[in-house]
Amino acid sequence: MRSLGLVATQTLTFLFTDIEGSTAMVQRLGDAWAGVLADHHRLIRESLAAHDGEEVVSQGDGVFAVFASPRACAGAAIQMQRALASHAWPAGERVQVRMGIHSGEASRTAAGLTGLEVHRAARIAAVARGGQVVVSAAAAGLLTGSLPAGAGLKDLGLHRLKDVGRAERIFQLQAEGLPPAFPPLRSLDNPKLLNNLPAQVSSFVGREVELAEVRALVGGSRLVTLTGAGGAGKTRLALHVAADLLGGGGEGVWFADLAPLGDPDLVAVTVADVLGVRLEPGRPVLETLAEAVGGRSLLVLLDNCEHVIGACAKLADALLRGCPGLALLATSREPLGIGGERVYRVPSLGTPARGADAGAIRASEAVRLLADRAAAQGVPLAWDGPAAEVAGRICRRLDGIPLALELAAARLRVMPAAELDARLDERFLLLTGGSRAGLPRQQTLRAMVDWSWELLTGPERAVLARLAVFAGGFGLAAAEAVAAGPQVPAAEVAGQLGALVDKSLVQFGDAGAGPGRYRLLDTVRQYAAGRLVAAGPAAANAARVAHRDYYMALAEAAAPQLVGPAHAEWLDRLDAELGNLRAAISFTLLQPDPDPGLRLAASLLVFWSARGHAAEAADALRALLDVPGAQRATLARARALAAAATLAERAGSYAAAEACCQEALAIAAPAGEDYLVADLLHQRAWILLHQGKPGDALPLIEQGQDLARRLGDPHLAARLHSARAYATNFQGDHAGAARDYLRSLQLYHQTGDQRAVGQLLANLGNAELSAGDLDAARRHLAESLDIARALNNRYGIPFAASNLGLAEYLCNSLDAAEALFAETLDVAMRTGVKRHIAYALIGLALTSHGRADPGWSARLHGAADQALEAQGHALEPLEARLADVDRQRLRTAMGAEAFEAEYAAGRTLDLAQVAHEALLGTQTGRETHRGGALVSEPDAAVSGEAATVLTPRELEVLTLVAQGLSNPDIAQRLVLSEHTVRRHLANILRKLGLSSRAAAAAWGVRTGLI
Ligand SMILES: Nc1ncnc2c1ncn2[C@@H]1O[C@H](COP(=O)(O)OP(=O)(O)O)[C@@H](O)[C@H]1O
Ligand SMILES: [Mg+2]
Repeated sequence: MRSLGLVATQTLTFLFTDIEGSTAMVQRLGDAWAGVLADHHRLIRESLAAHDGEEVVSQGDGVFAVFASPRACAGAAIQMQRALASHAWPAGERVQVRMGIHSGEASRTAAGLTGLEVHRAARIAAVARGGQVVVSAAAAGLLTGSLPAGAGLKDLGLHRLKDVGRAERIFQLQAEGLPPAFPPLRSLDNPKLLNNLPAQVSSFVGREVELAEVRALVGGSRLVTLTGAGGAGKTRLALHVAADLLGGGGEGVWFADLAPLGDPDLVAVTVADVLGVRLEPGRPVLETLAEAVGGRSLLVLLDNCEHVIGACAKLADALLRGCPGLALLATSREPLGIGGERVYRVPSLGTPARGADAGAIRASEAVRLLADRAAAQGVPLAWDGPAAEVAGRICRRLDGIPLALELAAARLRVMPAAELDARLDERFLLLTGGSRAGLPRQQTLRAMVDWSWELLTGPERAVLARLAVFAGGFGLAAAEAVAAGPQVPAAEVAGQLGALVDKSLVQFGDAGAGPGRYRLLDTVRQYAAGRLVAAGPAAANAARVAHRDYYMALAEAAAPQLVGPAHAEWLDRLDAELGNLRAAISFTLLQPDPDPGLRLAASLLVFWSARGHAAEAADALRALLDVPGAQRATLARARALAAAATLAERAGSYAAAEACCQEALAIAAPAGEDYLVADLLHQRAWILLHQGKPGDALPLIEQGQDLARRLGDPHLAARLHSARAYATNFQGDHAGAARDYLRSLQLYHQTGDQRAVGQLLANLGNAELSAGDLDAARRHLAESLDIARALNNRYGIPFAASNLGLAEYLCNSLDAAEALFAETLDVAMRTGVKRHIAYALIGLALTSHGRADPGWSARLHGAADQALEAQGHALEPLEARLADVDRQRLRTAMGAEAFEAEYAAGRTLDLAQVAHEALLGTQTGRETHRGGALVSEPDAAVSGEAATVLTPRELEVLTLVAQGLSNPDIAQRLVLSEHTVRRHLANILRKLGLSSRAAAAAWGVRTGLI
């Protein structure tokens, strides 16, 4: 190894490496670990020497090296990964090393090589997975055009690293011999995966004591409710507590905004949306939700429960019972009133005592908020003697209520503080009939809002009242459409809106991407709604009609965009409008003419499905189709039926889907609506294909193709080609299928529909696998998975991941395959699509080959087959063949009788339970759950009791779990079957009321039992 002879600060390329899962490996290997580590170091050092790298330090199982040339560094990393992958490690072990490359300045000091960039390099490496090489944007920039031959960089998007404020763009180094795909990076806040906390635009003031108190409560109880009047700062406090908990392990912190909901039934649906749980039409939402959450460790913030309090209580009760790792933080004007709830009354902000000196006044929380908001309005408060007293008096007068203070601060633009103080005094004296004793707290805010309202101009009032029909935020165009009326021309709405923002009655947030959005705080929205009702039914109805029409037009404008190049933006845009879309649909349900609702709901088909709202949309479409006024055979009805058919087909309700298609065809065909007819034929074909009837599907596809040719629509043609390819692949003509898929791919590229491209690549990959072209298949499937992940397409991820899993399996990369099937299972459990769960279970059975108890694998097959048969779903031929071979293998290994018994037992098991257990048994599952509890685990039995609760055998198992041993290792150590170990573990968790092995291990150690 050569020294780079550094003298001063210089730009270098850093390489950090680290063995994944080494702690557990040390435990497993015992004395053999030293040999493994020595081999690992030797391989790394050989690569360093070959590429002029300098080893700066090697610590434990990681190495830090520097290179003068980024290209040499990339070359070294590739050589290391190849060498590590092909080395013969002790039986059953694989040394998987995460690596990170970054370029930046560093200085050589007495303490070694130092600099901020060195730290950054270490953090970048930390987000990689074992076997993966990640590259920072800085290094990637230097590598452009100078990558080693055959190597490439894949953009993995923006990721926030622990302790580093801004997000970093991360790339993955790709080269032959390195796996193309890995589970998502271990970044602190992959925003799509771990949280959805809304960004706050204004500053947060004070609350140190409250934060500590609420944090302590959340640490000790699984349901904490922050109560207090509107505007007291409950939401803001809850958000702050939640943000603090991010990155503390577990599976994230999720914000469910219940304020826009008009219907209590949507409470559970909203939580499901937020958690990415796909609902099934007709199945109780709470049941699906509890099942999907299972033992996951997460915190859900239920904001604004008061108007749907009963539904919240029911939801909380069900989730707390069914999901041992879940904790809830609620905000509500009143408590939920269920067992185990800890209620925290949010106090007002501290106000200065009468007669306090200027310093104390300035330091008080309420005055700080007033001053901060005043300064933000461009009118900084003065602090000389009397001025400070005036500020203190205003805050006292307003009881330190944050919203009242914000409204008051807004007045400071037009009147000096002393005048504001005097006017407030006057007003409050009037309200209390001359008593200086002050108003009850809720009335203080009401008085402040009333006063703000009275000071509005006529047009401002008209606009504010009409804005009350929005559910959730809204953009300027929507406001113009809805708030314009007899008093306010559309062109003037923007001006009025600006004035309302200045007066703090409307909030404006710059979302970062896209145009900013407006929203009303709930207290203000309710006030405005009262004013709208007071204006009379005609005014209120006109506002709602305008709202509905705006969103119907938006949905219709979205439809073609959702299958074009801008679909990702449109999906995000529609997601932001979900509350409004729902409100428009609900309004239509009460109207004599349901047409606008049918048009709206049908146009959004792609959105409903891609973003996990399929079950809700199916229910809404059903309800709209059932409205008496909707029974005429109109095209709107036919299109809505077609959308309903797709949703039913995706949910596996093939008969219902077929009935919708038939009825729609009976309307569309006589009307000569060729596009719709072709679309419906395509739909019917898929229903048949999923039932394993390609022969029946092909004539329908051909009919559809004739129509598509006449219409010259590339998207339609692409869909039909793809269906035909699936059919021919099913019939065994893999080469023909691949040709059709490629034609379809070309057409999708032409339309720019990346989501469809992604989905198609998965099918193409499957056909290539069937044809034995493993390399092409892996490439296409990895690309498909990348696209699905980038779009957060929760329907597409399991599809692509399970196919790529098969490819890895066929290439004999069992670990990679297992990780992909685990990812499939993980997402499928959240989305609840049963056929995806079944495919994942079969995949895990395949990859358990020789690594797990064959009895367990037989059960996995049984459970998967049962789920597929219950839906009438036919496995794709490749999967069917592999599953068949695997069952034969198991039968031979175990003996026919034992196999049949286990397989039959698997068929009787609860699918969710099997899935959960299967996930826990995988490396990914262990990792997911190793994060441990985000918040405290439910109170487990105290140690004395537990010692008698657990059998000696269970204690033994728990001890080995705590040492980090895997199930097969525990089985070997205790001379038990792996299945028995799994059963012991399940019993332990059940007895202790815990959710994961990590929690059980931690508990055992904490209580000193093991
Ligand atoms: N500690 C705080 N620092 C800064 N602003 C606050 C604070 N608490 C509340 N606010 C602001 O006061 C207003 C009302 O607070 P919010 O949390 O919405 O009240 P609630 O949820 O109790 O109705 C919001 O504009 C919010 O941003
Ligand atoms: Mg609130």
